[in-house]
Amino acid sequence: MNGNHSGAFDGNALILGIETSCDETAASVVAGGREILSDVIVSSAAEHARFGGVVPEIASRAHTDAVLDAVSRALDTAGVGLKDLSAVAVTYGAGLLGALLVGVSFAKALAYAAEKPLVAVNHIRGHIAAAYLADRAAEPPFMTLLASGGHTAIIHVKSYEEHEVLGSTLDDAVGEAFDKTARVLGLSYPGGPSVEKLAREGENSVPLPKMLKGAGGYDFSYSGLKTAVVNYVHAAEQRGGAYSKADVAHSFQRAALEVLADKLFAAAKERGVTTVTAGGGVAANGYLRDLLGRRAEREKMKLVLPEKRYCTDNACMIAAEGYILYRAGKFADLTLNAKASIPLKNALAADANARR
Ligand code: KG4
Ligand code: ZN
Repeated sequence: MNGNHSGAFDGNALILGIETSCDETAASVVAGGREILSDVIVSSAAEHARFGGVVPEIASRAHTDAVLDAVSRALDTAGVGLKDLSAVAVTYGAGLLGALLVGVSFAKALAYAAEKPLVAVNHIRGHIAAAYLADRAAEPPFMTLLASGGHTAIIHVKSYEEHEVLGSTLDDAVGEAFDKTARVLGLSYPGGPSVEKLAREGENSVPLPKMLKGAGGYDFSYSGLKTAVVNYVHAAEQRGGAYSKADVAHSFQRAALEVLADKLFAAAKERGVTTVTAGGGVAANGYLRDLLGRRAEREKMKLVLPEKRYCTDNACMIAAEGYILYRAGKFADLTLNAKASIPLKNALAADANARR
């Protein structure tokens, strides 16, 4: 870690962030890693919806079509030119390889042509850095709940660069469980928001597994819950009897999310940390957000919750994490390549950039 590095706000550092890891082509300019000057997101979700999930080839083509315009608009809206930028930050992994390559190739070409430093950002660290956008005063140490389509973990953010994974999922990610539940209930893609909407009309009437509550340390397991939902729905359909899809959504959501809040606050207490944050698409869920808010009040802890838009994929969080690397002088060169998968522990290691 660079000794000069601190969290002080340096509004003069302008970072262009580029994110193309999944189905969103996003570009943004962030000042000092905290102040959003522009925030462009072009989603290809509608093109994937009829297939019930992201189709990698369609995503890559959509990024290729959208990236130039998204970056141009991000610069224009922020009122800055390429010459004003301090660095170009891009997500290099993890994600869909072809999709990542569009952003990485574009960022490399742009950084080279504009003679600006290139910064390689890990997507997961971006989700954690979304907390810095939510609260300009937010600083480590804090305990983070990472809840996305690919990860579920409790992470102790000890400093801007040192992160310790206290627990993670042993099988499926919580977002994956939402997407699977949506599919089995015949709800539209993307699954998380559809389940949340339907759950509001239901009750907690469906018996489901206990979710390693009070067990398993800070680890999670979602495959049993997923299977229980699938079995319940299939059994009900085979019987031909009526059942409440809203009750399934409600019961599932409650089981899936309560354990996250329990373990997040237990970890914070154990480590003596008084600030908690959350990031990743599932952190956009209203039931979870309310739950975290109530727990934080009860435990007298500070809760830093990114706006919903900055929980799901966006480029502002990439620029926010890019700023941290920029301040530490951790730059990538033009040999940078995209990486489809990166183990969580490697992604969060203090020397993550060196291990790239
Ligand atoms: O962070 P994200 O946008 O992409 C990844 O990095 O994975 O997370 C996407 C995941 C999907 O599984 C999606 O269903 C879930 O987040 N999600 C939600 C909600 N919005 C998105 N899950 C529950 N409730 C939501 N409102
Ligand atoms: Zn994400």
